[in-house]
Amino acid sequence: MKINDHNALKPYEASAERYETMQYRRCGRSGIDLPLISLGLWHNFGHTDDFKNQRILLRRAFDLGITHFDLANNYGPPFGAAEENFGRILKKDFLPYRDELIISSKAGWDMWPGPYGNFGSKKYLVASLDQSLKRMGLDYVDIFYHHRPDPMTPLEETMGALDLIVRQGKALYVGISQYSAEETSLAAKILKELGTPCLIHQPRYSMLDRWAENGLLDVLEEEGIGSIAFSPLEQGVLTGKYLKGFPEDSRAVKDGRYLTKDSITPELLAKVKALNEIAEQRGQNLAQMAIAWLLKDPRITTVLVGVSKAEQLLDNVNSLKVLDFSTEELQKIEEILNA
Ligand SMILES: NC(=O)c1ccc[n+]([C@@H]2O[C@H](COP(=O)([O-])OP(=O)(O)OC[C@H]3O[C@@H](n4cnc5c(N)ncnc54)[C@H](OP(=O)(O)O)[C@@H]3O)[C@@H](O)[C@H]2O)c1
Repeated sequence: MKINDHNALKPYEASAERYETMQYRRCGRSGIDLPLISLGLWHNFGHTDDFKNQRILLRRAFDLGITHFDLANNYGPPFGAAEENFGRILKKDFLPYRDELIISSKAGWDMWPGPYGNFGSKKYLVASLDQSLKRMGLDYVDIFYHHRPDPMTPLEETMGALDLIVRQGKALYVGISQYSAEETSLAAKILKELGTPCLIHQPRYSMLDRWAENGLLDVLEEEGIGSIAFSPLEQGVLTGKYLKGFPEDSRAVKDGRYLTKDSITPELLAKVKALNEIAEQRGQNLAQMAIAWLLKDPRITTVLVGVSKAEQLLDNVNSLKVLDFSTEELQKIEEILNA
């Protein structure tokens, strides 16, 4: 496909071929299709990051058929910055394409000081979404999530807030993130009774973090809820970039907040090396195999990657060229992961 050169940042016109290579999958029992690869703005969209690069990343993503951008109130740094930058780029480049986009935000983690800027109260969720909409310059988000379970707030209140937000027209759909299988069943039941079904669950899920397989994916299937797997590349570890040391421009070196050098141990790298060899035999790189491995399960609606460079987007989208696995490949992967 023809790739626009965005480096000169001329006025944006989306690629006419943007829907030709991407594939889309239905999100649970809903009316929404999501691209097999979605883009998250957790990293690389703060005020400390290059704004021009942010703009190039979003343009390149949309040109590749990535119609879903995932944000949260606290993505930055500082908190709120990713939504502000996204809002600036939306205004400059994407307003003509708003109806082709699924934009999500979330609340649930620390956002502002005091007792009302965190967790899962109605007070916090409603106020936080109002702030997010202002920062992004939007009338509504397509999906609004509760970002993590809150053990101190009745689930009825938190789910009631999600339902209210939809009825207010501030979100079209709602989702939950990091909820366990049991919490998800309860939340789904309450939301169904309220008449606002849960569209989607956002779990952390990768070859190296498989907790979602322990009941959660079964609940999602039963309830007709879609899923979006976050940190599918384990923040870059599953790209093989750390096999030969710590590149200066990598997340572990540039931004050690969530991915520390210490967590990338020789034992972990031995697994990554073995996985990398299988990927090479499949004619893919490791990032591509890690994405394909998640998408082999139809309960995974979309894989939510982050990127620091535009080339990484095309690289990740090229994973769709080889999505099938032989039984032998899957067995070998299991052996490596369970070693
Ligand atoms: N719901 C939640 O609680 C939660 C929590 C965390 C994240 N999320 C969501 O999930 C999204 C993705 O998370 P993530 O950024 O951790 O995802 P990830 O895809 O596992 O890691 C992204 C990082 O991997 C590297 N990378 C990506 N593609 C590459 C490629 N083809 N080749 C080489 N390196 C590549 C880049 O890091 P370098 O800087 O090293 O280039 C990139 O920033 C977030 O933006 C957010 O929307 C949600």
